[in-house]
Amino acid sequence: MKQITTLAVAILLAMGLSAAPAFAGSDKNPCNPCAMKQKMNPCNPCSMKKKMNPCNPCSMKKSVNPCNPCSMKPVKGQWGTPGNQSIRPHAFDNFQQAAAYGKKLWSDESLGTSGNACLSCHADYEFLHLERNQNFPHFVKMVGDVVSLDQMINYCMLNPMKGKAFDKDSKELTAMAAYYRAYRMQYRKDHRK
Ligand code: HEC
Repeated sequence: MKQITTLAVAILLAMGLSAAPAFAGSDKNPCNPCAMKQKMNPCNPCSMKKKMNPCNPCSMKKSVNPCNPCSMKPVKGQWGTPGNQSIRPHAFDNFQQAAAYGKKLWSDESLGTSGNACLSCHADYEFLHLERNQNFPHFVKMVGDVVSLDQMINYCMLNPMKGKAFDKDSKELTAMAAYYRAYRMQYRKDHRK
């Protein structure tokens, strides 16, 4: 009996040993990198058509490719995706916030040294020529030149306000321009009738 068992074990072992390498090298073994035709192997970067290979940065539309840093939605307060330079620390989450801060600044008499606030001269849309419905840049008589909105704001800061010009990337300048836009939208509403 013991002999039969030993024989059976020996036969099984022999079968196993001869079968194992046959299976390991088999085309059917998914763990064998040499298995399957190269074209069909999803782990082979050269396989599949380029367009279909999700590991190929050129594949798929840019906007849906998760490997493309430009395809992601910007994270609130943190547009500093690696490789992107920020112009300033995050300042506003939306237009309303910027315009609200701008409204404060337009009413602030301590912004310059003349004792005036922007709204001392521009209350009731005075001197803003909004009826002309012009976008910036445009010619402004007082400046004697064609200016962008930011440049116009800084011109009024330096001259009628007798203050300092805002830094071009400052949140203050953005806020001043945002309030100008909000003020202009309000003008259009008021004059629609
Ligand atoms: C002492 C009065 C005075 C103050 C203070 C003043 N401005 Fe002006 N601003 C003017 C006058 C006058 C004009 C019109 C110039 C013209 O039409 O030639 C003007 C023009 C402008 C314009 C352009 C209007 C157009 O033609 O499109 C903007 C924008 C403006 N000011 C913004 C500001 C801002 C912002 C401040 C505050 C930082 C400010 N101003 C402060 C007198 C003032």
